[in-house]
Amino acid sequence: MPNNTAQLTIDNITYQLPIVESTAGERAIDIRGLLRETGFITLDSGFMNTGSCLSQITFLDGEKGILKYRGYDIAVLAEKCSFVEVAYLLLTGELPNQSELEQFQHDMTRYSLIHEDMIHFFDHFPPKAAPMSILSSMIGTLHDFYPEMDLDQDPYGGITTTTARLLSKARTIAAFSYKKNMGHPLVYPRGDIGYCANFLHMMFDRPNLPYELNPVLVSALNKLLILHADHEQNCSTSTVRLVGSAGVRLYPSISAGVSALWGPLHGGANAAVMKMLERILADGKDYEKYISMAKDPNSGYRLTGFGHRVYKTYDPRATIIKKTCHEVLNTSKISDPLLEVALKLEELVSNDEYFIERNLYPNVDFYSGIIYRAMGIPTNMFTVMFALGRLPGWIAHWQEMNQDKDSSRIGRPRQVYNGIVERPFKEIVDRY
Ligand code: SDX
Repeated sequence: MPNNTAQLTIDNITYQLPIVESTAGERAIDIRGLLRETGFITLDSGFMNTGSCLSQITFLDGEKGILKYRGYDIAVLAEKCSFVEVAYLLLTGELPNQSELEQFQHDMTRYSLIHEDMIHFFDHFPPKAAPMSILSSMIGTLHDFYPEMDLDQDPYGGITTTTARLLSKARTIAAFSYKKNMGHPLVYPRGDIGYCANFLHMMFDRPNLPYELNPVLVSALNKLLILHADHEQNCSTSTVRLVGSAGVRLYPSISAGVSALWGPLHGGANAAVMKMLERILADGKDYEKYISMAKDPNSGYRLTGFGHRVYKTYDPRATIIKKTCHEVLNTSKISDPLLEVALKLEELVSNDEYFIERNLYPNVDFYSGIIYRAMGIPTNMFTVMFALGRLPGWIAHWQEMNQDKDSSRIGRPRQVYNGIVERPFKEIVDRY
């Protein structure tokens, strides 16, 4: 029977630290009493070794490449479910039955419009405003147009008006920002089609050129949003939890998460991958040049779309996205030269000692952009697609944080100070 305490000896004093065990068998040293017991804090820049909370939403095994939402394997959910069903699962802990699903779909339809006054906001963003800054601003502003109801009416758990509004209106905001960017008339959501079909309809339908929904693309979009729906304590989800822990309501907390996701090391990588692949293609497919740059510690260059803080094997989401890539391009009879570049790059990297030693495999962002491109979605909207997928995960974590007394304490990490400790004040400017 493994020990359930860890021993820490400092200055000849031995402390017993409890070991907490996850339901999946992982073990962690519980240091919640460390400062009180020992007078010491820990230092862990980037939180490489630190768990921030207990959570029941998503389980990752980075060594085995396992990803489960509420206990269901990601491959099964991506194959069998719609994004709306998976959003329901993440928010409530259970997959919906038929009537629950119909009610949730009804709510999504009911809340798919945005206040007409919000539409004027689009006229005042600069013409080439980044869709992610529009999304973050508009989600934050939902708080003013749709005051989140009191917690007793709108408890932290499950599907509420507030959460259904956010999931549905974010999709509309994303599509409207694209139409505005294109200078096209807005296309309003329909009431007779599902979440993903409605997004593609709002994005690509035109009064003069009706958009015909392609079931292969609708299915691929469902899969992509499911695969992005949650990923435990990643940078943007941790941001949502940290901001929410200060008592910030859902919409502004999510707006902060959108900003965190925008980073090229995080959700911004899917757009950065496309730029990298286009650069390699334009550079005569000089793969070795880019692989050598990525291996040179002084270049500051990385092969974006590779590597992961948790996965030290193939990202299970990348496996499914790569397969979906082929399905979409084959059925849509699209041949995208960037897919050939991506496949060749992956092949070369997978045989290169530098990447093998560091367990650098394709992550969720490596192939996803090729599918978005096949759908007609512009590169500057790729991270918006990631955000639409991640919304139910962010909301579920914000709710879980608020429901749990321990993790709803305001998040406030400590530091180890290594600056100047004391110096006398000396006049150095002529004050008078
Ligand atoms: C997402 O956390 C999540 O779950 C995120 C996410 C989610 O669903 O929320 O999965 C989504 O953000 C996926 C990651 C997208 N980002 C990229 O593709 C950007 C490229 N990848 C990296 O910059 C990097 O791999 C990270 C940011 C993803 C992870 O960084 P870590 O864990 O801090 O690892 P590290 O930077 O310390 O790298 C370890 C070593 C270093 O070499 P050494 O110093 O040991 O010699 O691996 C090297 C790095 O130089 N390395 C890379 C590399 N990634 C890491 N070298 C070349 N190319 C890369 N892509």
